[in-house]
Amino acid sequence: MKSANSPTEHGKLLQWVDEMARMCKPDSVYWCDGSREEYDSLMAGAVASGSAIVLKKRPNSFLFRSQPSDVARVEDRTYISTREQAEAGPTNNWLETDELKGIMRGLYDGCMRGRTMYVIPFSMGPIGSPIAKIGIEITDSPYVVCNMHIMTRVGTRVLDHLGTDGEFIPCMHSVGAPLGKGEKDAAWPCAPMDKKYISHFPEEDLIWSYGSGYGGNALLGKKCLALRIASAMAKREGWMAEHMLILRLISPEGRKYHIAAAFPSASGKTNLAMIEPTVPGWKAECIGDDISWMKIGPDGRLYAINPEAGFFGVAPGTSYSSNPAAMETIKENCIYTNCGLTDDGDIWWEGMTKEPPGHTIDWQGKDWTPDSPEPTAHPNARFTAPARQCPIISPDWEKPEGVPIDIFIFGGRRASTVPLVHEAFDWEHGVFMGATASSETTAANIGAIGNVRRDPFAMKPFCGYNMGDYFAHWLEMGKRLGDKAPRIFYTNWFRKTDDGRWLWPGFGENSRVLKWMCERIDGKAEAQRTAIGYMPATENLDLEGLEIPPDDMEELLRVDHTAWIEEVKDMREHFTQFGDRLPKALEAQLKALEDRLGT
Ligand code: OXD
Ligand code: MN
Repeated sequence: MKSANSPTEHGKLLQWVDEMARMCKPDSVYWCDGSREEYDSLMAGAVASGSAIVLKKRPNSFLFRSQPSDVARVEDRTYISTREQAEAGPTNNWLETDELKGIMRGLYDGCMRGRTMYVIPFSMGPIGSPIAKIGIEITDSPYVVCNMHIMTRVGTRVLDHLGTDGEFIPCMHSVGAPLGKGEKDAAWPCAPMDKKYISHFPEEDLIWSYGSGYGGNALLGKKCLALRIASAMAKREGWMAEHMLILRLISPEGRKYHIAAAFPSASGKTNLAMIEPTVPGWKAECIGDDISWMKIGPDGRLYAINPEAGFFGVAPGTSYSSNPAAMETIKENCIYTNCGLTDDGDIWWEGMTKEPPGHTIDWQGKDWTPDSPEPTAHPNARFTAPARQCPIISPDWEKPEGVPIDIFIFGGRRASTVPLVHEAFDWEHGVFMGATASSETTAANIGAIGNVRRDPFAMKPFCGYNMGDYFAHWLEMGKRLGDKAPRIFYTNWFRKTDDGRWLWPGFGENSRVLKWMCERIDGKAEAQRTAIGYMPATENLDLEGLEIPPDDMEELLRVDHTAWIEEVKDMREHFTQFGDRLPKALEAQLKALEDRLGT
């Protein structure tokens, strides 16, 4: 086997790459340098082989179509593997480490035959930031290499920073589709569902992914490293790795507020991260749309960086009215996956424009018209776009020390019960709100859509250790932060009437709720104490210029006691699964809520 270029003398790294190459048996090994030429030549190869389509309407942009079975994260095939099952906890799939490695070694054996093994050095976070971490992804997918170029900081400069003995997180990936001699490659190679494994070994900071080429299963810097492995590291090292967007709001007086908000996958994080406030005089800057890494700074406040360098956003529904900044961001230099292709060489997805095109080729390569029964874009179709192209990216988005967080928001999609906004009484109550967060499931994972499930801190699919211990870590961070801790709020932009009408317009109008939060932390806004937390009355929100019927506002800000009594029963059941790993403080919070509701 030929190793074209190995630009490092890092002994441990060379040894690991060699070991993986001997196991996977690729035709050659290629070390990625992160250059434009590298990207261009891999894309040219993908176009020549038929796996990518050049988009005539968008400079330097390409469309990929996945296998119909490989369209989203696969939570059922995602494992947190530890020696003892209790360390993975009740919310994770678990297999014992030696057993899982045994299965996967069998799959990896010879899995890169006929392919090139790419070695991608990448940094999560600005290179050299005290909060950043370095990973090395091995993959046999040029699509993954190109996406990693956009989503992370890739290349030789990372190896230079690593030196000869720096720490790195090994991230092993294969699409699991070896090629026989002369065999023609599939446009989207991957393994069947029962052979896919997205495995994490948090006790040794190691990732092994096999069989899927899609998103969070394959771009290992994102969910696997920056959330599952990093959450376990953060617990050990006393920091936080969260599924949160980061946003800066600027008041008309120029005061800056930093907000980190956790919402489940495909629930509007990218839209909120790029919000265009409708409240006059308020401005917003985007820092990140999916992940926040936070450490306590020298002044005792919590500082956040976005470890990513790009957006891997859900495409359907993105439009000039829902998210104009995203539409500007994705004009060029992007990768599109599973979107529709228009006749003039552009992409289109449901909701992009009011008028659909008369004809497209859908995400499965078939003719589509507005009369077709299925959408042209898969509901989890994605764009991969460089963050620096966002017109409202903050000038401080790559600040190595991060930005100080003032406000945490938790939330989810709930058609009923959960009001538009409520505020925690204190940190412990806020942690309780995060721990009991719930949402309707979306297309970001393969599985049923629209079922309400508890998704604590929007981390159910991403917490790399026992979730009960994760709750304890949040409580511990609150103790360390003391009166410098961010204030905690809970929102639900997704309330509907019984006949399915949205009660709240959402998008830019969410700035009205954010403004109330900012005024709360400055001690300027009124709130009512309710059973579930502090809440604004209609007159406490700035609704100037917004036509919402008073009855709708009342419904949005109502605590429905009967519904909450049911809700609390479900919370109790949810807590039961954690057994003695559930912190006593959260049990006490649940009891206190039951008492306030009079159950
Ligand atoms: C994502 C997800 O891709 O949460 O961000 O699934
Ligand atoms: Mn996400």
